[in-house]
Amino acid sequence: MINKCLFPAAGYGTRFLPATKAVPKEMLPILTKPLLQYGVEEALSAGITNMAIVTGRGKRAIEDHFDNAYELESQLKGTSKENYLKEIIEIIEKSTFTYVRQKKMLGLGHAILTGEPLIGDEPFAVVLADDLCDCDDNGVITQMIEIYNQYKCSVVAIEEIQLDQTKNYGIIAGNLLKNSNNTYQVTDMVEKPNEKDAPSNMAIIGRYILTPDIFDILRNIKPDKKGEIQITDALKIQAKNGKVIAYKFKGKRFDCGSVKGFIKATNYFAEKLEINI
Ligand code: G1P
Repeated sequence: MINKCLFPAAGYGTRFLPATKAVPKEMLPILTKPLLQYGVEEALSAGITNMAIVTGRGKRAIEDHFDNAYELESQLKGTSKENYLKEIIEIIEKSTFTYVRQKKMLGLGHAILTGEPLIGDEPFAVVLADDLCDCDDNGVITQMIEIYNQYKCSVVAIEEIQLDQTKNYGIIAGNLLKNSNNTYQVTDMVEKPNEKDAPSNMAIIGRYILTPDIFDILRNIKPDKKGEIQITDALKIQAKNGKVIAYKFKGKRFDCGSVKGFIKATNYFAEKLEINI
C-alpha cells in the first residue's frame, strides 16, 4: 500500500518573480485552483490521504490553504458563493497534512530526504506540483501504484521529449519489459544532460514512487557540481540493482514551472471547462 505522498515545495520559483516574491510558486493558480491543490487531488484520487509537504521560509500560505478558514466560511455560509469553498473543504476533511521545513535549498534529493521524518520506513509517492498532469481516466499516481504493486520497486514516470530539451530533465536509459509497451527496466539515469550525452529522449517527470531505502542512499551520495543532492543520482544506484521501473504514463503534462507551460495549462483547462477568458 502507498499511504503517503510527499510534495517538495520549498523552491523559490525564480522564473515567476516578482509574483513569487511573497507568494509560494505552488500557490499560483491555474484558473482558480493553486497548483499544489491539483497535486493533492491527484494523490487523493489514488487513495492517498496523508500529504507530507516539504516547505520553506515564506511558504505559510500553503498551510493556511489546507486548513479551515472559519471567518470566510461563516461569511459565505448560506450565500450563493458558499460552493466556491466546497472542493477545498472536502479535501481538508479527507486528508491529513504534515509539514517539515527545508532549511537550505540543496536540490530535489535533499528536499526528499528532508521529508523522511514525515514518511518513515514505507514506500511513498512524490508529486512535484509544477508538473501538472491531466488524465482521462486514472491519474498518474494511480497508474504508477499499479506498476509498483506489480514490481515492488521504485517507479518513475517518463515522457518522450524533443532531444534539445534533455538539459531540463533527468533522462533514463532502459529496456522495454517483455509484453509491455510502456514500462522499462531502467539501466542508467543522467540528470539534465546535454543533447549529445543523453542516453535517450525519455525524460523523468515530477511523479515518483520511491522505496524507503532511498533515504539511506540520499544520505550517502555526493552532491553534484552545483552542490545539490539529486534524486536522479540516488535512483541511479537503485537502478544499477535492477530496482527502478520507468513508466510512460497515459495523460497530458504541463510544465508549470515555466511561464510558457503555465500559460498552456491555463488555456487547456479553460477550454476543457469551457470558460470564456
Ligand atoms: C527535477 C528533477 C529532474 C526531473 C524534473 C521533472 O528537476 O531533478 O530529474 O526530470 O524535476 O520535473 P527540476 O525541474 O526540479 O529542476
